[in-house]
Amino acid sequence: MVKSEMPAIPRDDLHVVFNSNALPLQQIRDTVRAHGICFVTDVPVEIDFLETFVEYFGTVHVPATYPAFYDIDSSLSEGVANNKQELPPHTDDPYEQHPPEIIFMHCICNRAEGGDCTYVDGLKVARDLHENDPKSFEVLCSVEIPYEKRFGGVSRATKAPQFVRNSEGCVTGVRVNPFYRGKPEVDHGMLEIINSAQAALNEQCTRPENMIKKRLQAGNLVILDNSRILHGRTEISGTNKRLLRYCSMSRTQFCRK
Ligand SMILES: [Fe+2]
Repeated sequence: MVKSEMPAIPRDDLHVVFNSNALPLQQIRDTVRAHGICFVTDVPVEIDFLETFVEYFGTVHVPATYPAFYDIDSSLSEGVANNKQELPPHTDDPYEQHPPEIIFMHCICNRAEGGDCTYVDGLKVARDLHENDPKSFEVLCSVEIPYEKRFGGVSRATKAPQFVRNSEGCVTGVRVNPFYRGKPEVDHGMLEIINSAQAALNEQCTRPENMIKKRLQAGNLVILDNSRILHGRTEISGTNKRLLRYCSMSRTQFCRK
């Protein structure tokens, strides 16, 4: 079962204009709560602006394998986020038992060719699969996928289904990430069933009608619920700079008044 009343991301009404004299904190919270994502426009482009901004909401989360404030920089090559290849829609840090909940991405500059962002509503995808492909839906809800990240001498690993259901059987979140996904230890027949469900999920996540594509400009700040909204980007070509600063916090911190 999927919360049928859960709306998909609308194509408009996601934008909040930054106003330093009257910070639109509640408007941002309400937009993320309703749609899973909010684009804040006209924010300053100083590199440390995000640190100041998130303090209005709460305390940032400190991940185990990267800094609390992390630069996604097209001039660097290490790490998944800095890779120039297309990044398919995914949720972050699936290898953590508790992945980041609310993610902030502040665009400081973007002169890159390509590198447009993509966003997909995971709850809508789950609802569509529930209605149109219940067999795949059930596999995605029930089969635990192993995820692992090795970083220096540290290994972070967990197992979880890709659709997370609550005690009432409603899908409340998604965990979708091809970069850190391992192979479940099942027999060949079951693996084929899992691969078929995975293909159905991938197909839904790349459908143009399920995707918002947006080129971030300097002064844009995106806030999204990592348990609901998948994010990705198109391939980057050339050497022009694209710099985003990234951090995350718990839903409890984000929603506190
Ligand atoms: Fe990501």
